[in-house]
Amino acid sequence: MDIEQPSRRTVVTLVAVAVVSVVLDLVFGAFRIRRTDGEDGRRVIESVPLPAPAEESDVSVEEAIADRRSRREYGERALERRELGQLLWAAQGVTEQSTGFRAAPSAGALYPLELYVAVGTPGVEGLESGVYRYQPRSHELARVSSGDVQSELQRAAVDQAFVEAAAVDIIVCAVDDRTTGKYGERGRQRYVPMEAGHAGENLYLQAEALGLATVSVGAFHDSQVRDLVGAPANERPLYVFPVGGRAQ
Ligand SMILES: Cc1cc2nc3c(=O)[nH]c(=O)nc-3n(C[C@H](O)[C@H](O)[C@H](O)COP(=O)(O)O)c2cc1C
Repeated sequence: MDIEQPSRRTVVTLVAVAVVSVVLDLVFGAFRIRRTDGEDGRRVIESVPLPAPAEESDVSVEEAIADRRSRREYGERALERRELGQLLWAAQGVTEQSTGFRAAPSAGALYPLELYVAVGTPGVEGLESGVYRYQPRSHELARVSSGDVQSELQRAAVDQAFVEAAAVDIIVCAVDDRTTGKYGERGRQRYVPMEAGHAGENLYLQAEALGLATVSVGAFHDSQVRDLVGAPANERPLYVFPVGGRAQ
């Protein structure tokens, strides 16, 4: 039986397609998105890996403290994924893998905080608009919803205009039960808000060291912010941090 041999041109085209696919896979491998159920078993749309955080920089902690300001004017550029990952790591990243201890201290190492990121416009390079939850152990983002919620978040935050103008908003929520089980009411009234303060200061100082702009926002309607990030009823939002590049 005669089998028609593929033409030289067909072979060359097939080889070229294979080479281009391998190169694209190598180049965009770091941006690969996987579907998972998240670290805590909650349903997520997809998981997005973040670049490994840097553990050194040219800015000393003293310089970051001296220069830190609440900055409410933002540039129009998107954040790099590296920058967002660094901020989240500074606030709640795992810094000791063997124990799970994190960048910010926690009463009884019970870690009641959950960080959400509202990615809108200008957003983050290579990330779709939506709400993401930070997964500290794997240093990943879990997308929990799609679409830009920054304008609604601004309305929930008593219409403070910089909430929408920022590239992203980082929302610090707390699951009080994780702490009250051991420390009771003192845990809810004192320890959990203190921990939000620790995480928030780390965010401020990391933003300063990266040359970014942020401000801690405490004025907002709790239930509206909770609904916008899709947090369950047992989580309370404590802080909103709009973050962006500095305005020129
Ligand atoms: C608990 C808390 C809540 C805050 N809430 C808001 C807020 O809702 N809106 C705002 O513009 N700034 C807010 N700020 C930022 C303060 O206005 C700011 O820290 C203060 O003006 C001092 O300026 P500095 O941070 O540059 O030192 C808040 C700060 C803290 C500590």
